[in-house]
Amino acid sequence: MITIKELEKFITGKTGDKGFGIDEGRIFGLTKERFEKVVVCWMATVEAIEFAVKNNADTIICHESLFLPYNAPLKFFQESQKDFMSWSTNAKRIQLLARNNIGVIRVHGNMDKFTILDAYIKQLDLGKIAHRNDEKFYRIVEFPPVKLEKMALKIKNKLKLERVLVIGEKNKKVSRGGLIWGGLGLFCNIDFIESMISLECNVLIGGESDEYAMQYIKDSGVSAIITSHMLSENEGIKVFSRILAEEFKNKLKVLYFENILPYSQL
Ligand SMILES: [Fe+2]
Ligand SMILES: [Fe+2]
Repeated sequence: MITIKELEKFITGKTGDKGFGIDEGRIFGLTKERFEKVVVCWMATVEAIEFAVKNNADTIICHESLFLPYNAPLKFFQESQKDFMSWSTNAKRIQLLARNNIGVIRVHGNMDKFTILDAYIKQLDLGKIAHRNDEKFYRIVEFPPVKLEKMALKIKNKLKLERVLVIGEKNKKVSRGGLIWGGLGLFCNIDFIESMISLECNVLIGGESDEYAMQYIKDSGVSAIITSHMLSENEGIKVFSRILAEEFKNKLKVLYFENILPYSQL
């Protein structure tokens, strides 16, 4: 068994943060502070919770928000709709968690800094990191000039995706890539996108994006390769689960649950 405090101390010891962020730590359940069998996953979806139930886990450590609206319990972001816990998916997740006495702990920015970003760069074999800033979540990679199309196909293969979205002239050569992994390519994170552009990246590598942001990127003249939010983070979450299992090997059982895309393509 370990405590949430022990978990926090271990993770922030690696990232250098003072403690868990405002959106991290216990999100749901756990009358006690101790836990002994965890499922680590990208998001505590209904499938992930069912996996935890089947495996008698007492806790889920996830990277993403358990409820929508995003970060609903936090007035820091906005006043939440008062009935958000009764919303369809939220209620279903709550019911499954409560019925099976499973707690949820979220590790967000600290997991990005600890494993997710670097694991994604390694998974895509993107070359050497030319610029990094942990506090701002920046990673910029440099590589010999390569056609955008070739780079996009390489990423598509590495992630075993059915498709990637490409912004920019496919024959144009790119050589300096700014990582906009996870959801940082969405228009709600346009300031992050802009910071990558201002740091002279000629290609942005996602992560997911939406048409608002993709149009903005296109007009800027910078190229981009858009993949998937979940699949750009899964590898780092798997790495995190392995490190956690190793660190607490006599005290904690760790199972990794791989979230899969919530849609199919026709
Ligand atoms: Fe993330
Ligand atoms: Fe994310």
